[in-house]
Parts: sequence; structure tokens; C-alpha cells
Amino acid sequence: MTQRLRDNRKTEEIRSSLRETKLKISDFIYPLFIEEADNIKKEIISMPGIFRYSLDRINEELDEIVALGINSVILFGIPLTKDAEGSESWNNDGIIQKAIRYIKTNYPTLKVVADVCFCEYTDHGHCGVLCDNDVDNDLTLVNLRKQALAQAKAGVDMIAPSGMMDFAVREIREELDSHGFEHIPIMGYSVKYCSSYYGPFRDAADSAPSFGDRRTYQMDPANRNEALKEAQADVDEGADILMVKPALSYLDIIRDLKNNFDLPIAAYNVSGEYAMIKAAGKNGWIDEEKVMMETLLSIKRAGADIIITYFAKEAARILRQKDTRE
Ligand code: PBG
Ligand code: ZN
Repeated sequence: MTQRLRDNRKTEEIRSSLRETKLKISDFIYPLFIEEADNIKKEIISMPGIFRYSLDRINEELDEIVALGINSVILFGIPLTKDAEGSESWNNDGIIQKAIRYIKTNYPTLKVVADVCFCEYTDHGHCGVLCDNDVDNDLTLVNLRKQALAQAKAGVDMIAPSGMMDFAVREIREELDSHGFEHIPIMGYSVKYCSSYYGPFRDAADSAPSFGDRRTYQMDPANRNEALKEAQADVDEGADILMVKPALSYLDIIRDLKNNFDLPIAAYNVSGEYAMIKAAGKNGWIDEEKVMMETLLSIKRAGADIIITYFAKEAARILRQKDTRE
């Protein structure tokens, strides 16, 4: 009744010492788009500041990432050729396998996460093998094992299946373990909604479905109980980290997972979330830097231990400046 809560907000010294949530550069994973081609550095129109690179130019990006103190990247590949099953994804000389070897050789301190899916590799843009115009779960599992194994052999540090196939974590775990890769962790895209916020990513990764949508495999945005079931399934199958995606419209789900599971929680601050802040910032309608930091903070406060974000480099720059002041 008589407590004056404003007393704890009087000065920056007080506020800073009482701050409940703080972002760190090591919270971030930075996504990279790598195209199988030469001499490419191409900005993605709907994602200002984010580029597709070919391997021969990616060093520029990697140097910057390492200098900023970012310690993890997640890789997405754009192959030269596509087919019905996405077989380039498990070619030992495919673009992602080459990228993993290149990064682990030249930037050994960087942790390399690989997204495991087929939409960038199939000519129809769906996340697996088609059967009667729908993705067949169990046929796709067979190929998921091959893709994950190829990435493991190339030296990947963590595998992140994003296709929302049932039993993907179990199958990949089995495949890895039976080939001596039991130490490679799996980050499940456990709770991935069928979201319109992925639009800019599909331009970036050239992975839009050529017909239909992903509603038969990705989750209905209306569902909250189902998120707990999806997360539990991944826990039972042996996932090491659980992810919620997208982040901002799903902060309640991030908190649900945080409260119900002991595993670390990751959140994917997706392309459309990035694009909106960039667009409003460019128009001068919002203070882009402040909105970016507030957004990332909200994802962490909701319960995310790890944030996959296109803002990682910009946020790292700001956190470094703050560090030298504090
Ligand atoms: C592939 C995949 C997608 C994203 C990450 N992995 C697109 C999709 O499911 O259509 C989206 C990431 C983003 O929007 O930033 N399955
Ligand atoms: Zn996919």
C-alpha cells in the first residue's frame, strides 16, 4: 500500500542493477543463406542488410560475425539443381556440406547449426516427398536420415530439423547414433506454426511451395495445447533443445514451453518480423534500433534461452558499445 515502486526506477544505476532480463551476444544464432554459385553477394529485397552469399565470398560475412563475438550460425542452402525428393540435400558435395567443411576448417571456433529440411531442394518447394499432392511423412523420414548423416559427416555441430514431420527427431537421433555421431545435439523446430511471417525467407531461400501451403504439416496458429504435445513428442524422441517459431506472435507459447520443460528453449525471430521493423525503421516511423532491442528483449523475457535472429550482428554491435560503457 505504502510502497513506492518508482523508487526502484530513479536512476540508471538502480535500474541497471535491478534489471531482470539482459541480452548477451551469446544468446544469438545468426542465419546464413549460402547459394551454390560463384561470386554472389546479393541483398534480399525484403530483408535489407541480409545477403545471399556464395561460398567463395562468405569469408567477408564470417569475419564480421567472429569479430562481433557471435559464436553460432545456422545455415540454409540454395542448391544449383532441384528435384522431386531434394536429393542434393544429402549429396556429400552438396552446398551445405561444403559450407560446413569450409566454416569448420577456417573458423573452427564458430558453432555451426544446420537446418534440415527439403523445401530449398525440391522442385515443388514442399518440405518432403510428395504423395497425392501432400508430403508423405514416413517417406520423408528416410530422406531426413540421409540429409542429417551427410551434415554430420561434414562436421556440423548441431542439427535442426525444421519440416514438422512426426518422428523426425527420433529418426535423426537413431541415424546419428548408429554412425558414431551420438555427440551431435538436435535442436527440434518443435513448435513451428504455419505462419505468413515466413514470406521474406522464402524469397531469400527460394523455397516457396509451388502449389498449396504447408498446413498439413506446420501447426495451426490458433493452437496452444497442441504446442505442448509437439514439444513433449520431441522430448520423448531425444531432442536437446526445443524451438518455437515464429517468436513474436507466439511469446505465450515460448513461456508455456519454458514453464513445462527443462530443456533449453530457442525462439526463431523470423524473416517477416525482421522485415516489418526494417520497413518501419527506414520510413522513420519507429526508432529501429530501440524497437529491435526491445523486441529481442521480449523474446528472452518470454523464456527463450537462444534467439535465432537476423538482427544478431546489429544487436551485437549495440551490446558491445554498452559493455564498454558499463
Ligand atoms: C524451412 C524453413 C523456413 C524457415 C526456416 N526454415 C520456411 C518455411 O517453413 O516455409 C523460415 C524462417 C524465416 O522466416 O525466417 N522449412
Ligand atoms: Zn521446409
